[in-house]
Amino acid sequence: MDRNLSLITPTGRLTLGNYLGALRRFVAAQDDSSPYACFFGLSDLHALTTPQDPDVLRATIAEMATLFLAAGLDPARATLFRQSQVPAHRDLAYLLECTAYTGELNRMIQFKEKGRGVPSTRVSLYTYPALMAADILLYRPSVVPVGDDQRQHVELTRDLAIRFNHTYGPVFVVPEVRTPASGARVMDLQEPARKMSKSIENDSGVIRLLDPPDVVRRRVARAVTDSDTGPDAVRPDRDAKPGVTNLLDILDACGGSADGITTYGALKSAVTEAVVATLEPVQKRYAELAADPAYVASVFADGSARAREVTASVLADATAAMGL
Ligand code: TYM
Repeated sequence: MDRNLSLITPTGRLTLGNYLGALRRFVAAQDDSSPYACFFGLSDLHALTTPQDPDVLRATIAEMATLFLAAGLDPARATLFRQSQVPAHRDLAYLLECTAYTGELNRMIQFKEKGRGVPSTRVSLYTYPALMAADILLYRPSVVPVGDDQRQHVELTRDLAIRFNHTYGPVFVVPEVRTPASGARVMDLQEPARKMSKSIENDSGVIRLLDPPDVVRRRVARAVTDSDTGPDAVRPDRDAKPGVTNLLDILDACGGSADGITTYGALKSAVTEAVVATLEPVQKRYAELAADPAYVASVFADGSARAREVTASVLADATAAMGL
């Protein structure tokens, strides 16, 4: 049985990138596994690594929890939980901080980009990969489905698990990273050299899961391409044609095809149609679920209780192995 685990951080409203790179894959994993083999969570503790307004954070968590269900995750098949409601995450994070090296954390791209050298960077942004490793190792998953940008963190997790097992005995399963064939790195439509991010201030190049069709159409229509007008202008080339390549990747991930398309106008129409069709069922279910926030909260409360049960023995094993 393939146990899958992954989390998403509530630091902004979910984007098409989060959906294609992660959330949609969680649903596929749930559907391919035996009941309760999958654990998917909101990494709300991770949200605090950067400043958040408490009211906005609460609203973001509620929306994201609802979107997990709207996307098709089913509490009868997968365990849905909140990291902050499972204290073992914090406990194991400390133990793993006692095994990780500063040299390893200094190499993390996300820390380098978001905080290194800035005096007001929160300490937790630096130690974040140890908490993320705890998130994973507590559940002994064999597979961690993520987008490409999280690969480095999962690889560090593997290194920490291997070192821990070698030093203290075989406590952890060493997990495998799994990224999708298309949609693993959806780029910003305005700045295709940068990944589409849910927590960016100028979000004119971002498509959110709950964006209505007219917003999707406008954003895709304004997506940056290039001035190539040749007969083979519509072709993938990450370096020379990042904008066009991104649109092709989105089209593919949303089930469309670029066969026979030769102009950027036609490409953008096809992308709009495919994205709108992909988002529509999620938005429909979201509208129904949003009417019942107590139900959504109860699903995550029940899932968190189950996560507390599952993780207790792993934490106990790790603690004992270290001599405490
Ligand atoms: P986060 O919240 O930034 O992103 C959530 C998931 O979405 C994927 N993703 C993307 N995929 C494709 N294109 C994009 N533009 C794009 N942007 C984001 C991410 O790769 C991720 O899979 N630290 C993690 C959350 C986390 C986690 C974990 C993940 C906490 N603990 C344990 C796996 C296992 C994060 O901030 O992801």
